Amino acid sequence: MEKFIIHGGIPLKGEVTIGGAKNAAVAILPATILAGGKCVIENLPCISDVMASLQILSELGADIRMLSRSSYAIDTSRVDLTEVSNELSRQMRASYYFLGALLGRFGQAQVAMPGGCNLGPRPIDQHLKAFTALGGVDSVEYGMIRVKAESLHGAHIFFDTVSVGATMNAMLAAVFADGLTVLENVAREPHVVDLANFLNMMGADVYGAGTDVIKIHGVQRLHGCTYSIIPDQIEAGSYMVAAAATGGDVTVRNVTPKHLEPISVKLRAAGCEVEEFDDSVRVRRTGALQPLKIKTMPHPGFPTDMQPLMTVLLSLAKGTSIVTESIWENRFRYVDELIHMGANIKVDGQVAVIEGVDHLRPAPLRATDLRAGAALVVAALAADGLSELEETSHIDRGYENMVEKLQDLGADIRRIETPIATITRAM
Ligand code: EPU
Repeated sequence: MEKFIIHGGIPLKGEVTIGGAKNAAVAILPATILAGGKCVIENLPCISDVMASLQILSELGADIRMLSRSSYAIDTSRVDLTEVSNELSRQMRASYYFLGALLGRFGQAQVAMPGGCNLGPRPIDQHLKAFTALGGVDSVEYGMIRVKAESLHGAHIFFDTVSVGATMNAMLAAVFADGLTVLENVAREPHVVDLANFLNMMGADVYGAGTDVIKIHGVQRLHGCTYSIIPDQIEAGSYMVAAAATGGDVTVRNVTPKHLEPISVKLRAAGCEVEEFDDSVRVRRTGALQPLKIKTMPHPGFPTDMQPLMTVLLSLAKGTSIVTESIWENRFRYVDELIHMGANIKVDGQVAVIEGVDHLRPAPLRATDLRAGAALVVAALAADGLSELEETSHIDRGYENMVEKLQDLGADIRRIETPIATITRAM
């Protein structure tokens, strides 16, 4: 077990460089299976979800070589297994992308029910609906998902709900399907476009990613390629909010400012200055924070993965804010931790009403999931004094070198080993 020790109250200042997008990387790595050849993937973030994806590829028979800290050569020509081990499947949500990729190449796949953050129910009915429409037969028994197809054929699929995972899984399964596949009511997130670009660079025929209809003409085969993953929208947004919450001045480098607009707009409305450059943004806060109304929505709406971070920021605003979570049923679990820090937040179902307070108090804290963990780091950085954050492995799933990056911005934060969970809290 590890924990973060954070002496908060220091405004963050300087520059931070953002890594590749987690939610693109965890789909693009399984997609290399479709190449049946050698791909070089660049700008891979060094996070535990990426390491787990590489390990799954290796167990399936891929030959993997590390070229640099963020580039890997992956040769999937000798992949011959179609079952992902239970232990690795359960480590992360994104193991479900191996279903689409293995089904697409081999006509069969088996993956244990995926793990990941506990944000309430996380059904996969829309993934299975797409596989079935393409000619697959699925079964879910004893926590194991199996999909099999004699042959895959193009289909017209209208998703009942906008799902990032189902959209990308359907794309993976459809690239070799005979004829035309039309996916309607799809997710438009930047990582959906990144996956389409990667598939096309390997020779696929995917059109329309970034709109709500994607068309895929099945091809006979793909080939390897070299591909660089887009910057991580949520990692960038997290440092932007950290700058704002600590009253700092931070330039966030290696980003696509267009992908950050839903976040930049809200930070400006909260009274922060956000300047956009070609591949960086600068966030400054000198005055008081203003309250906001925020509702999470699929892209290009405000991203749910930024919701816990914005709630932390708004707990320091002058007035009443309302944050509505419309994607996940249970994404306010971290609020109890903020209340221990002196925040005034009332949650009723999917809505949090936040009465801003002058300051947050340091406290012993526990990360309940990935983004909640990042939000609590920001809360601790803003609170004057010593906070300790446990269960930081959640954070390592999605943020590379968070401690080092924050230290470079002047934060007083370090990571220490703890033999067992030692959290204590005054009642
Ligand atoms: N949904 C269904 N049926 C399905 C799939 C989804 O009803 O078959 C519902 C979900 O219950 C949810 C909504 O549709 O209410 C959206 O779920 P989506 O499928 O888009 O989520 P996901 O693909 O499982 C990805 C990210 C999440 C992010 C969401 C929404 C990955 C690995 N995860 O999850 O990221 O919150 O999209 O943008 O890409 C994170 O990075 O911290 C994280 C949780």
